[in-house]
Amino acid sequence: MGILNQILAHPLTRGLSIDDPQTTELRRQIIVEKPFLKSIYHEWYGRILEALPNQDRVLELGSGAGFFKEMLPNAITSEVFPVEGVDIVADACNLQFLDGDLDAIVMTDVLHHIPGVDRFFAEASRCLRPGGRIVMIEPWRTPWSEWVYNHLHHEPFVPSADWNIPTTGPLSGANGALPWIIFLRDKEEFGRQYPELKITNIEPIMPFSYMLSGGVSLRSLMPNFLYRSIRFIEGLLPADRFAMFALIEVERS
Ligand SMILES: C[S@@+](CC[C@H](N)C(=O)[O-])C[C@H]1O[C@@H](n2cnc3c(N)ncnc32)[C@H](O)[C@@H]1O
Repeated sequence: MGILNQILAHPLTRGLSIDDPQTTELRRQIIVEKPFLKSIYHEWYGRILEALPNQDRVLELGSGAGFFKEMLPNAITSEVFPVEGVDIVADACNLQFLDGDLDAIVMTDVLHHIPGVDRFFAEASRCLRPGGRIVMIEPWRTPWSEWVYNHLHHEPFVPSADWNIPTTGPLSGANGALPWIIFLRDKEEFGRQYPELKITNIEPIMPFSYMLSGGVSLRSLMPNFLYRSIRFIEGLLPADRFAMFALIEVERS
């Protein structure tokens, strides 16, 4: 994995620490230059927006280099450190919003980086209005994804872990298996701890396309004109065995 990642490392960010805010700034350029990857984000954001009945007060956590605001201009984008083009600095575990102020909290690839995720759920419960939603796209555990995340991806993927993750930094600290741990393995515990937060949908998605895009840290392996064909082909595979991500929806009662 190490050598392959070194060979495929995107030249713009090669050698930079992933926790360096400059890496996030450069990743914006990488997404723009990789239309196949941009198509993936476009599809993710579309799925998130479809899951939001009310879109007046929507907070995106860990916006990073993404472009959610292009699709929902009134969204409040945020990051744990200042990033150009992102509206506010916000920590998921200590939100600066009034009680019941938000219609939704959305995120892509963020939950599994949040240290002390218990505090995030308490804050989400406080800030969401009744009927408000948390909608996210996160890594998911299937037999295929577990192999890929363990062999071809730099982040830890530990399905036997508890809800804590290493606190090494906002991007390096991670457990890719955390969403599966919380919402599937420990769903009863989640229900006991947060009876006001109901898991309403878990849809495993996308077996291959993100990997083929090279994500934000590797070179692209696919031209954009193949996007629709690849999405069609992977749509034929059983998602419960092959998905690498899941769309997860949680509603505040
Ligand atoms: C893998 S990046 C995803 C960035 C972007 N959402 C995307 O899809 O490209 C994970 C993001 O989570 C953010 N993050 C980590 N800890 C956080 C916290 N406690 N609160 C909010 N965001 C956090 C990181 O700063 C980073 O931008």
